[in-house]
Amino acid sequence: MTIIVTGGAGFIGSNFIFYMLKEHPGYRLVCLDKLTYAGNLSTLESVLGRDDFRFVRADICDREAVERLFAEEKPDMVVNFAAESHVDRSIENPGIFLETNILGTSVLMDACRKYGVQRYHQVSTDEVYGDLPLDRPDLFFTEETPLHTSSPYSSSKAGADLLVLAYCRTYGLPVTISRCSNNYGPYHFPEKLIPLMIANALANKPLPVYGEGLNVRDWLYVEDHCRAIDLIIHKGRVGEVYNVGGHNEKQNIEIVKIICRELDRSEELIVHVEDRKGHDRRYAIDPAKIHRELGWLPETKFEDGIKKTVRWYLDNQKWWQEIISGEYQQYYEKMYGGI
Ligand code: NAD
Ligand code: TYD
Repeated sequence: MTIIVTGGAGFIGSNFIFYMLKEHPGYRLVCLDKLTYAGNLSTLESVLGRDDFRFVRADICDREAVERLFAEEKPDMVVNFAAESHVDRSIENPGIFLETNILGTSVLMDACRKYGVQRYHQVSTDEVYGDLPLDRPDLFFTEETPLHTSSPYSSSKAGADLLVLAYCRTYGLPVTISRCSNNYGPYHFPEKLIPLMIANALANKPLPVYGEGLNVRDWLYVEDHCRAIDLIIHKGRVGEVYNVGGHNEKQNIEIVKIICRELDRSEELIVHVEDRKGHDRRYAIDPAKIHRELGWLPETKFEDGIKKTVRWYLDNQKWWQEIISGEYQQYYEKMYGGI
């Protein structure tokens, strides 16, 4: 079994590669990644020399490079994690989101058709459903919830999802889609809420909370997401969408306070900054379908997962210190320069 994993030098893709190599001895994992600001080859250091792993630097929008790799590897499956993934960056510069997230997806699926790939899996997001009101805790996203996006990022992911379903219906491409809630865990890029707050708290820098911090996200430990994708690509029904989430809703401000407690830092570091434009209020997944059909349930409780994650950032300072000193520094100054 050969699986091409696109975006495997990023947060979830790298965790997926580690998970699959551990769970499926005998599988060959081929990572295709452009190494944008969010991709980091050092993340894959521990697997780079293995016979059952190959890394190829390429852009999923580069049809020639993609086809060359498919011709060489003749993959059985493709799991697409490659994406521009940060909402705030999509507000600043939507164009690259449309290119990578929509056009890149179509290039990959064209190659899948040409080379008769048995399964194309699209890693999507709960953000395609838009948001839920804060005062309706009874409402959850199901697979039937209409797509209703708020940001250029989520719109590009929704566009890709529609294209994936269209390739299934029109060309009979065997596809599946997973729509997961917010992940956290090792190798999470420090522009996102949890790793950013850990890095800043460790440096005793201000902790920038957008608005009042009352927005709610449904947090899932990254390994639980990887296990869900593993189940879907092997046992999921072709043409189906599966929501993935752990019923673990927290306000942003709660998350930041938990991190302060874990790192023994004062909550006085918290600074309320200008709210994100179009800021989604609440995400909350109903994971009943994946539980019923594939027996998936999250295994890591948030209290344990956040401790493991904080420990990881303490033990791996070199990994994120190098990142926050590069191009990311300019982004940070632009976003948060005033505080
Ligand atoms: P990430 O930003 O950490 O990693 C993205 C990776 O894709 C990077 O390695 C980057 O170099 C690569 N990449 C970007 N553009 C590329 C291109 N044109 N060609 C090849 N490689 C390219 O993202 P992540 O958080 O790991 O998210 C992975 C996927 O999961 C995304 O599709 C995202 O929409 C989805 N998702 C993320 C979350 C979350 O909480 N992080 C939740 C649900 C779904
Ligand atoms: P983020 O990690 O960017 O994920 P997403 O927007 O895809 O859910 O943000 C999670 C939440 O944290 C979101 O409501 C925005 C908020 N947030 C802050 O309050 N401050 C920050 O510095 C960042 C990056 C996010």
